[in-house]
Amino acid sequence: MKVPLLDLKAQYRCIKDELLEATRRVYEAQRFILGPEVEQLEEQIAGYCQTSHAVGVSSGSDALLISLMAAGIGPGDEVITSPYTFFATAGAIARLGAKPVFVDIEEDTYNIDPEGIDQKVTKRTKAIIPVHLFGQCCNMDPIFEVAHGHNILVIEDAAQAIGAEYKGRRAGSMGEMGCFSFFPSKNLGAFGDGGMVTTSSHTLYEKLKILRVHGSQPKYYHQLIGGNFRLDALQAAVILVKLRYLDGWTSARRENAQRYHELFRQRGLEGKIVLPVAKYGRHIYNQFVITVESRRDELRRFLTEGGVGSEVYYPIPLHLQPCFGYLGAEKGHFPRAEQAADRTLALPIYPELTGEQQGFVVDTIRAFFHN
Ligand SMILES: Cc1ncc(COP(=O)(O)O)c(C=O)c1O
Repeated sequence: MKVPLLDLKAQYRCIKDELLEATRRVYEAQRFILGPEVEQLEEQIAGYCQTSHAVGVSSGSDALLISLMAAGIGPGDEVITSPYTFFATAGAIARLGAKPVFVDIEEDTYNIDPEGIDQKVTKRTKAIIPVHLFGQCCNMDPIFEVAHGHNILVIEDAAQAIGAEYKGRRAGSMGEMGCFSFFPSKNLGAFGDGGMVTTSSHTLYEKLKILRVHGSQPKYYHQLIGGNFRLDALQAAVILVKLRYLDGWTSARRENAQRYHELFRQRGLEGKIVLPVAKYGRHIYNQFVITVESRRDELRRFLTEGGVGSEVYYPIPLHLQPCFGYLGAEKGHFPRAEQAADRTLALPIYPELTGEQQGFVVDTIRAFFHN
């Protein structure tokens, strides 16, 4: 048996006709940039994420960049975020000439630890970017306590967390802006790159729309310097079809997570690995990430040889990336992020995964530990 980390072909097979029909309409209209599909998607994503507005953009990375631009972040500003996230979170801050300021993570959720934030706030702090990693929301209430106390914006990096909830509130609806990615491996994935910014502020909405088209308003008149951050009509057409299935897929991912918990318990593996916890509400399991106390890389090789896909998200925390050396952080500064980078392993969790396949994944892990 072979179990890939993700099987996009399985998803495609189920909805192929609808996807082909939706993209065919775009080909027939020969209208590829923004347009009605993008507008329809923006309306539906705003509704899905409990916000008043959404702005389709070219990727999750650009969603972060344009949000920070809309917030007026630039040289001399500081933005607090997690060192244990995909590069784009801190990359967007640095690209604008601002300084990423890292705060270590919680050991169990891998998300930023709100307790560490207050002591990192300075007069230059303009924003906090909590990252809802792997599909679980950060502990937002204490983050807002700090943010409101110092008049700091909160921009959610919800790239991995569409439909995740914190105390009934959807990811992307809690901060001033929420950033989403439609990268193919996300729960709602396009046929290429795509992203979205959600907001309930009319002012930010208007500014985001202008920044998306090089700051032009009206056409060829520029009050602001923006960029080409537009979402393609083709990607919007694909995502509109997939959005109808998203809640079903999320339920399947959550059931798979539950099944892993049962299987790991039945096989007596709970002492060897730590399973993910769903702590603050609806976890959407973009990834099912276990912590392996020791020999993580050996286990990964064993799984690969046995036909089971896995991945390390992320092997090097951001404060230790060479490009952020100028920030002056060293090994030991963020011990929980460093430990996670050494010990975590993502296992297959995609919706079409069968119980039999999950049994095979867990049996392969058991075989490794009993060797
Ligand atoms: C947490 C996080 N932030 C930002 C991004 C960037 O999204 P994209 O790949 O669409 O640019 C990703 C996606 O990979 C992500 O996982």
